[in-house]
Amino acid sequence: MSFDSISRRSFVKFAGAGALAAAVPSAFPQAAEADSTDNDPGDFAYQRETRARRMAWWEYARFGMFIHYGLYSVIGQQEWVMESEGIPIPQYELLAKHLNPKPGFASEWVKLAKRTGQKYMVLTTKHHDGFCLFDTKLTNYNAVQQGPKRDLVREYVNAARAEGMRIGFYYSLMDWHNPDGAICKTDLAARKRFVAYTFGLLRELLTNYGKIDILWYDEPWPLTAQEWDADAMNRMVFTLQPDIIVNNRNGLPGDFSTPEHKIQAAKRAWESCETMNRGWGYQRADHEFKTPREVLIDLTLCAQQGGNYLLDIGPEPDGTVPAKEVSILDTVGRWLDTNGETVYGTQGGASISFGNYDNFTRKGNMLYILVYFWPADTPAAQWLTFFQKPTVVAVGGLNAKVLSARLLKTGQKVEFTQDEISLRLTGLPEQAPDDPITVIACECDQPPVVNHHRIRPLWPRYGVGMPG
Ligand code: GLC
Repeated sequence: MSFDSISRRSFVKFAGAGALAAAVPSAFPQAAEADSTDNDPGDFAYQRETRARRMAWWEYARFGMFIHYGLYSVIGQQEWVMESEGIPIPQYELLAKHLNPKPGFASEWVKLAKRTGQKYMVLTTKHHDGFCLFDTKLTNYNAVQQGPKRDLVREYVNAARAEGMRIGFYYSLMDWHNPDGAICKTDLAARKRFVAYTFGLLRELLTNYGKIDILWYDEPWPLTAQEWDADAMNRMVFTLQPDIIVNNRNGLPGDFSTPEHKIQAAKRAWESCETMNRGWGYQRADHEFKTPREVLIDLTLCAQQGGNYLLDIGPEPDGTVPAKEVSILDTVGRWLDTNGETVYGTQGGASISFGNYDNFTRKGNMLYILVYFWPADTPAAQWLTFFQKPTVVAVGGLNAKVLSARLLKTGQKVEFTQDEISLRLTGLPEQAPDDPITVIACECDQPPVVNHHRIRPLWPRYGVGMPG
């Protein structure tokens, strides 16, 4: 992928975020704001009062692995294939015979997540197709009675626990296989059966596998929160798992929001979920993947705005993670080995927007300048002393005084000058010292905020709409 297409794609997101920031300045929340979900309708007292405790590890973690794996992986045309191609249920059911993940598949996922620097994982225990990867007494459409004759959720849980990885269960409320799954909208008897079935499966998932960290509901169609009895659902979940966190896709706000395929800050805890190519489930013909730089830009944009990033893998039929996805994640992981402090435990609110080649995260008094595109060789250096060599990285509108600066990759000290308008980091190499992103860590005298609007009153643009 060319530099141009990377920057264009990134800037689409930048522009979106910028527009949002202009309309709603608090769209880049401070950590304290992101936590304040106290007024969410639909919460009950236990959920509200324990939220800060339950969410603390997740707020620190910032980065997780999403895994879409199920019968659809056998076809390799994404996880909606049953619906989008209109595959009859008895035909689709035959796929179960062909689902047979290789031994140790789950350990491979967990080891990959660890190498990548992801702190939690979320697996599709049941997707929209209704097939349960876990043992259940409530349907024989499950991986223990069919196909692999193994409890794949147990293998996942055991593998994750062995590595100290936080464990999440994705669960689709919508169910294309259960005969009551659609008719439950209009047929009350069917609704009663289907809601009981759903509560039963959730009860099994949250009883039989020890401590679970996240319940990631998906797609409440066709019922409303009230029709699902979603309040009772959440109460049952918290009774079974007092430390768990739940998302907002059963129709209630839950503990965090889940923007999908976009990075969109909320005034509460949020997590963007994203794919590397276009499919959540394995898509064998889609070879257009994000670059590691794009993945890291997404991750650090989430961190800038105080959110989490849940990045998907779509394993092949035997559970192997596609080689391209492994290679992207390995590069991301290597970068996080040295630069992880720019993401984990960061607090959001480091800037109200972004520079044109960089972005910012912060922790306490530390400002991390993430240089996405290294600013070297500008022809303007011939005419404007501002751009003098060696390369300058400049940041306008920083509120805090910088006390010291260093390159995170090498620890090398970085010289700088600072006035009220601009911080200028000098003596930097012509080539970016790190790849795909170089980080300059600046220790400041107070919690840093980069706000280019600060410059305007300090430095009027003469003749451009200025009074007098
Ligand atoms: C949507 C899709 C689903 C996918 C999910 C991930 O709900 O329908 O296939 O699992 O997004 O967030």
